[in-house]
Amino acid sequence: PRRIYGERDNSYGLDLSNEHTLAQLQAHMQSACNIEFDIASLTAVAVNHQSPHSVLNPSDHRDVVGQVSFIDAGSVGEVISTSIAAQNTWQQVPAATRAAMLRRFADLMEEPSRMALLMMITVREAGKTLPNAIAEIREAIDFCRYYADETERLNLSTPVGTVVAISPWNFPLAIFVGEVVSALATGNTVVAKPAEQTSLIAHLAVSWLYEAGVPTDVLQLVLGAGDVGAALTSDNRINGVIFTGSTEVAKRINSLLAARDDNPVLIAETGGMNAMIVDSTALPEQVCLDVLSSAFDSAGQRCSALRILCIQEDIADHVVEMIKGAMDELVVDNPAFLATDVGPVIDAEAQENLLSHINTLKQIAPYHEVAIKSDAPNATFVAPILFELKDLSQLKKEVFGPVLHVVRFAAHELNDLIDQINKKGYALTHGIHSRIDSTIEQITDRIEAGNVYINRNIVGAVVGVQPFGGHAMSGTGPKAGGPFYLQRLSRIHRWDTPV
Ligand code: NAD
Ligand code: ALA
Repeated sequence: PRRIYGERDNSYGLDLSNEHTLAQLQAHMQSACNIEFDIASLTAVAVNHQSPHSVLNPSDHRDVVGQVSFIDAGSVGEVISTSIAAQNTWQQVPAATRAAMLRRFADLMEEPSRMALLMMITVREAGKTLPNAIAEIREAIDFCRYYADETERLNLSTPVGTVVAISPWNFPLAIFVGEVVSALATGNTVVAKPAEQTSLIAHLAVSWLYEAGVPTDVLQLVLGAGDVGAALTSDNRINGVIFTGSTEVAKRINSLLAARDDNPVLIAETGGMNAMIVDSTALPEQVCLDVLSSAFDSAGQRCSALRILCIQEDIADHVVEMIKGAMDELVVDNPAFLATDVGPVIDAEAQENLLSHINTLKQIAPYHEVAIKSDAPNATFVAPILFELKDLSQLKKEVFGPVLHVVRFAAHELNDLIDQINKKGYALTHGIHSRIDSTIEQITDRIEAGNVYINRNIVGAVVGVQPFGGHAMSGTGPKAGGPFYLQRLSRIHRWDTPV
């Protein structure tokens, strides 16, 4: 039978309903599962490391999550040499054996005590809310099982070689794991470089991949910032790069790889300026719920998050008022509390960039802003805010946080509106709220997108069910968690295998 991905059982055997803080959750886990862990002592150390630095909880800098040491960018050559030396043996390991390792790793992540540990690190290192942390772990598990099934189904025979996997901080487990296990599943050796902000969780995941049987020379973790990523992708011996992050960095990596004669593989998943188009037949209550989760869940730090809400003028006053009222109910606080809806943004740099955009727009556009509940010192919260723009020319670039831009349109302006959205140059995630089939068709036919969601929210693609990715400035494809992904990581396709 086909495995079902994206199960969203949020309990995992835990009674979360009575837990109010991470400390209580930790105490509960220790007594319920008879396990002990001390995540304050968590440490990730890179080879040839620089002196360690403290990882601080973005919700409260008094909370030191762990210690991390970065590799010197000049030392990555040795790591790549080790990877190349391991390639031949690894690619001869049967697909079924590699798949079994991925499934074992998924099983490890599903053990309640490990799940709790992952949840706590995700909340404390990345500032995710508990429901977001659970969904993140679920997605990582789905990636393992999906790519394990896919590699057995496709039986791809020749990997591309040594693949560098570079991931962002906003899905510090799911995207990191998705990149790594897709390359391993197809018989590639992997050098993985997670985002510098979220090294601890990546370190933990790699240690469990080793426990699941992946050899230490087949998968190597290098910790560091952009300079380390640049050194890895500049090494002419690598055979491919899987990158998720900003369009700007993807372009730099693309230029490096394109300058080579041997045509290394690049999979890049990047940003978006995602819109939801709401016509006058939409159900206002549903729109309101879906706008809130799309724009403000994960503090808007999803590539798929809603940036531009386009409302037909006939219902705009009513719907915008409803959204503002619902925004006032959002709890912006430490994500260790179950009541929290919106946690912090990842760091002070992200906070400064967002506040700069917000302060500029406040001079020219009416807005509605939510209060921040937390008063923790040095925390990096940004209050969710809604701006009413005159037109889309007032929004110049992707704004990666809890900032929603609303524009109004008249029915006869629909095609022009879609063209303006397309002209932003991205093609990632959009949404439609309408009860007229021909309008839905008109929009889906004209709009440039990887994923278009109809009469629902626009975040939370499920592995194997809603393959995720875009084109143009949003990435190269193929879509992650979809049936064409693994072929890009292999030189030879078995064309007799149905996809
Ligand atoms: P980023 O591009 O700054 O960093 C991503 C990764 O690239 C990090 O590991 C970073 O250390 C590394 N890096 C930085 N400079 C590099 C260089 N010169 N060479 C090689 N590696 C380098 O992005 P971010 O701020 O971490 O993430 C936010 C961005 O990611 C947003 O634009 C968001 O839309 C995008 N994103 C896209 C997807 C998707 O699936 N399409 C998913 C998540 C995030
Ligand atoms: N895959 C993530 C989502 O759909 C980015 O929200």
